[in-house]
Amino acid sequence: MSKKTEKLVVLGVSGSIAAYKAADLTSKLSQAGYTVQVIMTASAQKLVCAQTFLTLSRQPVVCNLWEIPDWRPGHIALAERCQLLLVAPATANILAKMAHGIADDALSTYYLSHTGTVMVAPAMNPRMWQHPATQENCRILRERGVRFIGPDSGNVACGTGGTGRMSAVTEIFQAVADCLATK
Ligand SMILES: Cc1cc2nc3c(=O)[nH]c(=O)nc-3n(C[C@H](O)[C@H](O)[C@H](O)COP(=O)(O)O)c2cc1C
Repeated sequence: MSKKTEKLVVLGVSGSIAAYKAADLTSKLSQAGYTVQVIMTASAQKLVCAQTFLTLSRQPVVCNLWEIPDWRPGHIALAERCQLLLVAPATANILAKMAHGIADDALSTYYLSHTGTVMVAPAMNPRMWQHPATQENCRILRERGVRFIGPDSGNVACGTGGTGRMSAVTEIFQAVADCLATK
């Protein structure tokens, strides 16, 4: 087993239109030898199919907090093994929940259980990104040590331009690789 294979990334996928790019990210991370455990929000599951992540990661995908295959709640067992939580794409909603400690689904509950590094790659409409509530939530998360990758400027899916586009998959991949290389 290579050293990389021992490195576990929990990839949180939330309900942004950029969720399809998380499939490519999963593929690249898996092919590079990382173990990728995907946790999807309910909104993400409306945009991308869990089966896609199951196939690309070769790991069961967590879609529901209440599907517990073990005697211990899954989020606790996972948190003990995982060095890095990456939320990509990160919606305005999941950023708000993370900032305020709301744990009402598998991903937000996992965040509170995780003691390792946390990275987020926000993706949203520029108006949502610029909203003072979102900016304040990001300030709270940055102060707590959460690392931000993007968002970038450019055209977003809803037809407008501005800041809010999820960073390129290659950039997110590199940020993960750099982070885990130092651990
Ligand atoms: C087609 C579609 C695309 C969406 N894209 C985004 C997005 O890019 N960023 C965002 O913050 N919310 C987006 N939303 C809204 C979120 O899905 C919504 O706020 C949801 O409650 C997020 O839940 P989650 O954070 O648990 O995934 C989108 C909604 C729809 C219907």
